[in-house]
Amino acid sequence: MKIWPMNTYSKLQDWDSSLPLQEAAAALRSGELVAFPTETVYGLGADARNEQAVRQVFAVKGRPVDNPLIVHLASPADWRDVTAPGYQPNAAELQVMSVFWPGPLTLLLPVHPDIAPSVHPGLARIGVRVPAHPVAQALIRLAGCPVAAPSANRSGRPSPTRASDVVADLADAVAGVVDAGPCPVGVESTVLAIHPAGTQATILRPGWVTAEELTAVLGIPVHLDASLTGQAGSPQAPGMKYRHYAPEAAVYVFTGTVETVCAAMSDWILRHPSLPTAVMAPASVQPQGSVWARWQPGPEENYVLALARDLYTQLREFDHLQAQRVLVMGVAAQGLGTAVMNRLEKAASGRIILV
Ligand code: TXA
Ligand code: MG
Repeated sequence: MKIWPMNTYSKLQDWDSSLPLQEAAAALRSGELVAFPTETVYGLGADARNEQAVRQVFAVKGRPVDNPLIVHLASPADWRDVTAPGYQPNAAELQVMSVFWPGPLTLLLPVHPDIAPSVHPGLARIGVRVPAHPVAQALIRLAGCPVAAPSANRSGRPSPTRASDVVADLADAVAGVVDAGPCPVGVESTVLAIHPAGTQATILRPGWVTAEELTAVLGIPVHLDASLTGQAGSPQAPGMKYRHYAPEAAVYVFTGTVETVCAAMSDWILRHPSLPTAVMAPASVQPQGSVWARWQPGPEENYVLALARDLYTQLREFDHLQAQRVLVMGVAAQGLGTAVMNRLEKAASGRIILV
């Protein structure tokens, strides 16, 4: 598998004239699979109009075929290329496009007949997103086609936030990876569906753009899909029903105050002295007993923001260090915390301990 390096420190930042990026774009255009950076996580791209290429994405990821792919565009103005001919977005959809694109927001829209059927198995709408990452934009622009891309991990593994994570999971199954260093956001895009009348919206997957931000901008009710709030029913985003983001180590999430979490983690570590145990918590949480590996935010950093950025990277790092247990301090399920707790619940397979 090829690594196409991007010199992110180059003063020119003229990605369209980058020879490695042109080579990656040519591979995409000719039906090969190319992993590339976005602001959220690395994606595994295929020409969204090429059914063979799209099927290959499912095959190399080991992805269930009922789980639709997000279609990525170079620029917000390109939405007409991938949506039903003549479709008129409602006011709320137009508002989302103008405020949150480019950015980590995926909007469901009626699909254009040229989009490969496997991108949206049995569904009338596709997820559309314009990444904010300049390298992703240039790659899609150079390829000249809409790019269907799930996260570039093997299904069930933590999403990749570095090119090396893609190599570890997909190795020779894909043409190559465009390497532009670590992803700045670290948690996937918010997946949003707006009611045809434009009067209410539903978050199918919480992400970087929060319900609070969407409510403030749109001025209409924004709900979380009922399956995400513990109510009955299967999720509207098929991907949300699968176990996800899990490292080799067993993850336990402790939710409470600094004092109660610290006490509960200390107790847990002392009761399992022979298990290599890693801890992810703010610096104020210093459990007793022997800690195998530890992550905490930088001195001036907000815990929720830093955890969102570093969670997937760190879960993979703890696997490299052969930690067998990872204890994480949970966060309040509001704002960005909704997305962080959603990913933690999946990584922990529901092992959430209220203390
Ligand atoms: O930030 C992101 O969204 C990253 C980067 C690479 O763009 N992509 C990503 O894709 O996370 P993926 O395939 O790992 O997750 C897409 C999620 C899944 O839960 C899927 O079920 C849902 O979005 N989804 C995609 N298209 C959909 C559709 N047409 N209807 C309902 N849910 C959809
Ligand atoms: Mg994924």
